[in-house]
Amino acid sequence: MNKTIIVSNRLPLQIKIDNNQLQVKPSVGGLATGLKTIHQEGNSLWIGWSGLTEEELNSDLSKQVKALIKKEKCDTVSLTQNDLENFYYGFSNRTLWPLFHYFMEYTEFENTYWDSYKAVNQKFADAVLEHVEDGDTVWVHDYQLLLVPKLIKDKKPNTTVGFFLHIPYPSYEIFRTFPWREELLHGILGADLIGFHTYDYQRHFLSSVKRILRLDVNFNEITYDDRVVKVDSFPMGIDYNKFHQSALKQKKEEKSELQKRLDDHIQSSKDARMILSIDRMDYTKGIPNRIRAFEYFLNKYPEYKEKVRLIMLAVPSRSNVPQYQLLKRETDELVGRVNGQFSTVSWTPIWYFYRSMPFENLIDLYTSSHIAMITPVRDGMNLVAKEYVATRTEQDGVLILSEMAGASKEMNEAMLINPNNFEQIADTLKQALEMPLKEQRSRMEILQKRLKRYTVEKWAEEFMKSLFATKNLGAVII
Ligand code: UDP
Ligand code: G6P
Repeated sequence: MNKTIIVSNRLPLQIKIDNNQLQVKPSVGGLATGLKTIHQEGNSLWIGWSGLTEEELNSDLSKQVKALIKKEKCDTVSLTQNDLENFYYGFSNRTLWPLFHYFMEYTEFENTYWDSYKAVNQKFADAVLEHVEDGDTVWVHDYQLLLVPKLIKDKKPNTTVGFFLHIPYPSYEIFRTFPWREELLHGILGADLIGFHTYDYQRHFLSSVKRILRLDVNFNEITYDDRVVKVDSFPMGIDYNKFHQSALKQKKEEKSELQKRLDDHIQSSKDARMILSIDRMDYTKGIPNRIRAFEYFLNKYPEYKEKVRLIMLAVPSRSNVPQYQLLKRETDELVGRVNGQFSTVSWTPIWYFYRSMPFENLIDLYTSSHIAMITPVRDGMNLVAKEYVATRTEQDGVLILSEMAGASKEMNEAMLINPNNFEQIADTLKQALEMPLKEQRSRMEILQKRLKRYTVEKWAEEFMKSLFATKNLGAVII
C-alpha cells in the first residue's frame, strides 16, 4: 500500500534524557499539534528530529530512541550539536524566521549558517530517499526544510512532492534582501504543489518567483523546467471535535487543581472576568504589546481593577537565541511592573506561567476564560485562536484577534485589532467585557460552524486532492 511520508524538522514527540532515562513529551507549536491527528489516522511515516543530538546518545540510548519512535510510525534524522547551532538556532531561527516575519533588524545573514542549512536539508532528503518507494507521496513542511523538495525531485523525479509553509511568506521587498534568494526558490520549486495558509502569502511567493527567477506564472501555476508547479492557499484548521468534546467531558469530571484556582477567581465577584493568552515565548507573538495594552486599559478604565485578570501562558521556545532571551527578560519586567503597580491584597492582575501545560490544563484555561486576547505582530496562522473558539461549548466568550495573524482572514466575527494600537486594544477589551451574551453567541456560532467544517483533516484532504490533481492521479487518503 502506498504511503505518505511527512517530513518536518520536529517530530510530534520530543525526547529528552534525564538521569540516563528517556523522557517523552509532545511537541509544542501549530505544525506538530495540527499534523498529529492526520498522522495518527492514516498510512504515513513521519520523518524528523527527535530532540536529541548525536553527542547526547550512546548506542544503547540510540536503540531505545529508534524503537520508541518506530512505535509512533516515525523515523529520525540524526543531528549533531553543530547542526543544532548552525542549522536550527542559526539559519532557521536567526535568519529565516525573523526575515519571514518582517523582523529585518533581527535577521542575520551568515555563510556558516547557510552551509549548515544546505547540509542538514540534504540529511533530511537522504532520510526520505531511504524510505520512499514507487507510488509514495512526500509532504515536506515548513521553513527549516525549504531545499528538501528539490533534493528529492532531483533524485526521484517521479515522486509526488508537496510542500506546505506554516509561517508567513513575506512580500517581495523583504524577500529580495535575502542573499541566497534564487537557491531557496529553486529548492521550494522542487515540489509539485506549494501550499500557504493565506492568499496573501501565496501572492507574495508568486511575485518573488516572477521577479527573481523571471519564470512564467499563469494565474497560480508556474512553468518550471518541463513541469508545472501549482501554488495555492489552504488555511490550516484544528481537530475541532477533540477540543469540543474534551471541553464537554472535563466539565463533568472531577476538577483539576488549576480549574479549582480558576474557579476561585471567577467566584470571587459576580463581575470577575478572565482574559487568556497562550503563545510560545516568541517576539512575533506581541507579548510585550499585550501587557502594555492591558496596563493602558487598567489606567484608562480603573473600574475594572480587581475584576479582570489576564492569564498569560508563555511556553519556552528557542531560548538559545539572544532575542528570545531578551524577550523573556522584557516580559518578566513588564509583568512585574504591572503587578507591582496594581496588585491589592486580594488581586493580582496578571497570572503569568512560563512553561508548557498538559492538554487537559489547556482545556481548563480555554473553557474558563471569558475573553481570549491573541495579539501577534505577525503570525502565519495561530491555532490557539481556533482552539479557544472550539472549546466554547455554551457559545459564549469573545475572541480578540490581531489582524496580523493568518487566522484573522477566516475569523471576521472575532474582534479584530491592530496589535500596535494600545488605544484600540484597550477599547476593544472594554467592548468585549461588556458585550451582551446574545452578540457573543451569534459571533461564536458562525466561527464554530466554519471551524467545524474546515478541520485539520479537511485541510490535509484538500491539500492531497490538489496535489494528486497535479499528477492526474486519484486522491489518496494519507
Ligand atoms: N500548545 C501546547 N502546549 C502548551 C501551549 C500550547 O501544545 O503548553 C499548543 C497549542 O494548543 C497550539 C500550539 O501549541 O496547538 C500553538 O500553535 P499556534 O499556531 O498558535 O502557534 P505556533 O506555536 O505554531 O507559532
Ligand atoms: C512554529 C513553526 C514550526 C515549529 C514550531 C515550534 O509553529 O511553524 O515549524 O516547529 O513553531 O518551534 P520549534 O523551533 O520549537 O520547533
